[in-house]
Amino acid sequence: MTEILHIQRMLDAQKREHISFHTPGHKRAGEDITELSYSDCLASPRGVLKAAEEDVARILGADASFLLTDGSTAGVFSMLYAVRAAGARSVAAPVFSHPSVWRACRVLGMKAVPIPQITVCGIARQPNDSAMETALAEADALLLTSPDYYGFFPPLSAAAALCKRTGKPLLIDGAHGGHLHFTPAVYAGCYADLWVDGVHKSLPAMTQGAVVSSKREALSPLLREGVRCFRTTSPSYPIMASVEYAVKYPRNEQIEAAAVAFKRRHGCLENDDWTKILVPFGKQSGAAQLALEGAGVYPEFNDGNYIMFYLSPCTKAEELEKLASLLLVLPRGEVAPDAPAGAIPMYSEEP
Ligand SMILES: Cc1ncc(COP(=O)(O)O)c(C=O)c1O
Repeated sequence: MTEILHIQRMLDAQKREHISFHTPGHKRAGEDITELSYSDCLASPRGVLKAAEEDVARILGADASFLLTDGSTAGVFSMLYAVRAAGARSVAAPVFSHPSVWRACRVLGMKAVPIPQITVCGIARQPNDSAMETALAEADALLLTSPDYYGFFPPLSAAAALCKRTGKPLLIDGAHGGHLHFTPAVYAGCYADLWVDGVHKSLPAMTQGAVVSSKREALSPLLREGVRCFRTTSPSYPIMASVEYAVKYPRNEQIEAAAVAFKRRHGCLENDDWTKILVPFGKQSGAAQLALEGAGVYPEFNDGNYIMFYLSPCTKAEELEKLASLLLVLPRGEVAPDAPAGAIPMYSEEP
């Protein structure tokens, strides 16, 4: 790591004996401190948090980036707040978007215009250009998920061109794309006006760590207002330090290449994102999950057709090898071509 870790450095420097007459109530000080004279304030950062947010913005190519300790959910709410404050009354988004999109629309009084998605073997596939265009004709903004939970990207260039042509903002929910800033061709920040990086999912940040960013100077103050509304006023320093660490974490091209080779070798779903390995098990998926977990291998999800293994730059080659050796002995079934989408409970909420 060549970058300075501002927040961690501040936490390390303050490890001296410390009598706590401040929150949190555990009184143990350590790294779980609150906003004190030396630790800055997330709502109006002037010190280490400002330095960390500025570095994050520089690395992600943003005009402004905001650290979030409340997950990508808070980022989705904040993006929609910003475009609503800029005048948008409606947003077009794929039917199988994360429920935070529909919930934010309800809270903000925005109309959601669902973009239809076709389902292939129980997987809702990204909308095509014409589906996006038709829905956006009825909406003031476009919100896409990139990549989705199954590792597929929407047509990013076409979406950016469409939004430019129509003068409407493009928002990207990159809850599963925090690892992509090294690869501009598929990075949300290279296409969107506002976007979320869910760094706790695919980079080494603590659970709930995320970033929301703006590319447009005019939208940045509105996004700042948005994060003020939807972010906690008691941000966790361990989470914030981990977000800064995750964004500065170096690329691991060795594991990326190993994942691509693994997918080819084991007949995995042909998707576009190396961090998401989907192994088809069909009717054997329940038994396979039990056997894997019995061997100490825990996948991300089992949708009844595919089992998904979520990688990050911290995944070790030996771990992939262990998975490979288990796959060789586990029975596989044919995936059901007519399985309905939305088997993962998280995605079962209607627009
Ligand atoms: C596509 C997508 N967007 C947003 C979220 C919300 O992220 P978080 O759980 O970090 O709030 C998720 C969570 O899984 C998700 O899958």
